[in-house]
Amino acid sequence: MKKAIILLLFLSGTFTSKSQENILVNTNSTQIILKVDADKNLTFEYYGKKLNRIDDLFNTNTNTGADAYPAFGIRPDKTIAIRAKHANLDLTLVLKYQSHEVYDMDTNVDLTTIHLKDEIYPFYVDIKYKTFKAEDVIEMWTEISHTEKNSVTLFNYASAYLAFKEPTTYISHFHGNWGTEFTMEEFQLKRGKFSIESKEGIRSSTKDNASFFLGLGSALSENKGDVIAGALAWTGNFDISFAHDEFSTINITAGINNYASEYTLDKGKKFITPALILTYSNEGKGQASRNLHRYARKYKMVGGGEERKILLNSWEGVYFDFNEDKIIDLIDDTASIGGELFVLDDGWFGNKYSRDKADQGLGDWQVSKKKLPNGIEKLIDESENRGIKFGIWVEPEMANTSSELYENHPDWVLQNAGRELVKGRGKTQVVLDLSNPKVQDFVFNTVNDLLNKNPHIDYIKWDANAAISNYGSTYLSKEKQSHLYIDYHSGLQSVLKRLREKHPNIIMQACASGGGRTNYGFLQYFSEFWPSDNTDALQRIYTQWGMSHVFPAITMASHVSASPNHQTKREIPIKFRFDVAMTGRLGLELQPKNMTDEEKAFSKAAISVYKDIRPIIQFGDLYRIVSPYQNKRLASLIYVDEQKKNAVFFAYYLEKQVKETLPYFKFQGLDPTTNYTINEINKYAERKVFGADDKTFSGSFLMNTGVKLNLSNEYDSVILHLTAK
Ligand code: GLA
Repeated sequence: MKKAIILLLFLSGTFTSKSQENILVNTNSTQIILKVDADKNLTFEYYGKKLNRIDDLFNTNTNTGADAYPAFGIRPDKTIAIRAKHANLDLTLVLKYQSHEVYDMDTNVDLTTIHLKDEIYPFYVDIKYKTFKAEDVIEMWTEISHTEKNSVTLFNYASAYLAFKEPTTYISHFHGNWGTEFTMEEFQLKRGKFSIESKEGIRSSTKDNASFFLGLGSALSENKGDVIAGALAWTGNFDISFAHDEFSTINITAGINNYASEYTLDKGKKFITPALILTYSNEGKGQASRNLHRYARKYKMVGGGEERKILLNSWEGVYFDFNEDKIIDLIDDTASIGGELFVLDDGWFGNKYSRDKADQGLGDWQVSKKKLPNGIEKLIDESENRGIKFGIWVEPEMANTSSELYENHPDWVLQNAGRELVKGRGKTQVVLDLSNPKVQDFVFNTVNDLLNKNPHIDYIKWDANAAISNYGSTYLSKEKQSHLYIDYHSGLQSVLKRLREKHPNIIMQACASGGGRTNYGFLQYFSEFWPSDNTDALQRIYTQWGMSHVFPAITMASHVSASPNHQTKREIPIKFRFDVAMTGRLGLELQPKNMTDEEKAFSKAAISVYKDIRPIIQFGDLYRIVSPYQNKRLASLIYVDEQKKNAVFFAYYLEKQVKETLPYFKFQGLDPTTNYTINEINKYAERKVFGADDKTFSGSFLMNTGVKLNLSNEYDSVILHLTAK
């Protein structure tokens, strides 16, 4: 049983006057301050570094004084977080503070709930703040309910509202498309409104990621300045908006996108909004990322404390073109170079409609008798005989119209009644209606049966290669069609929850045509993401750099693929490809038969190097040193373990310029008073880029003066292993 301490009204804050109260939401070094005034209005006053004296805030004008959860009604000209139509059709809300309590979940985690109620109607909003003190992370969300006579319609339902009185605010956010996910862009927020949103329904992060970094008062930098980072934990459509208003206040609302999503809330039901995950740092965005990484590993993901296996995925090696012998050869090659897990990607299922191309078979999750006559059991045995594990790909939320599933259940797919279906991949792909409990059972059973029948499956790659088109559900009533975007995801999450209850430890990768699902909403059920289908090592430097802002290395599946690369046709040496992939969860995605003996030997050696440094990368703190986005034709980063005893440094030369003198590389995150022995690892054919192996340097020298590296050719790269002496 968890310890619960309920602190009653007025106990958790200090009084600024008789009838006013401050509510403090604290982590070890940060603080949100809210105020209840004499009229029971709740205002959001401050989020930033923990203050020594709260009164200082109110003696200046640095507090915002904005409503904590602004409602449509009295001041409709303002940014609003909630808008609703009451049972009697009244469109206004005025929310008043009622009480609050703090629940002490454990020594590091508190949950503060502030209860608000409309001044007239039995309409309630609870604002929730869950604090992770050591990580300086706060989750913020709301729970909306009512006991009005009939249902209420919700039009706006933000998870969080925040306001900053800082006219000079910069934003970094991450956007792209298929193959360019997580491209980072920064600019100053100017008067007007800027929104990051998704309307894809299913692959909610292909184009824009539900996360942001704000530089308050100055441009964003790695080690300096006030930074607020946020990430919305929602698997579906989202909207994060920044309105720079006439008072130069930045008004932030974040939550489920209300696009085409009016929600009927029945009496007694609760509408729980997803959490906005927040962290604040006054030491730049590097610290903000490290806060998020530690929180993700410890609290948010499945298996954040377990080392990840090095895998070979079959996709770019064989695509759909395989049979049992070919797969056994791949398993053999995986084991012979030191791999620990083989993952069979798309193409293993379908009999009436054999999955030989992307245009048929989705939904028919029976093993292909033609390709794999002895079932996946045989492949699992072959893997285990070679001492490695077996994993498998699924895309259970989808169907092809050429499938037995669609023939038997045409009503299970999303559709506009009476209109022709628009189809996706392979010109036949359609989306199952996850708002329908029968479909939820089907998806659950597909994965549950696969795992129950094959208890030795060690890994699942869960894909989703479509957006929602054909908006419409045969399950939802006519009145509730506008629930589809939301109910799809409630349905999906309930399936994922059920699966996690049955299979709590299995490692699952979230993939959606590449990085379409890199979101904390998925991470609570998954262990890693496929960041992009673009496996070109040069492009991955940019993608992974962006992603590293929000997610830790252990969640970043990073695979060495063939050269020339299949997406870009670029040729990149094998060492550079490994050196890039080794900054995340290392894997391979190629046909080993097409490698030279020299490449194979190098791969085997690189895999063994990664096994040594894996804990530092997968559990260490990341310091980004030289950004590839700074146009210096370089990139560099370092992972440092918690005790600052071991570190792994990476540097890359991205584009050669004649007669260029490269700068000194200054390390970060080390202990200045510790001496470190440095060794260059993962060398190719004894070429040395560092040249001072086994020499010892003080942490302060490495961080203040730095070292010269002999990066002389395009796609030269280096990995240095530092150990405290
Ligand atoms: C998607 C994924 C790929 C691969 C294919 C299989 O595109 O992103 O990694 O699994 O599907 O069809």
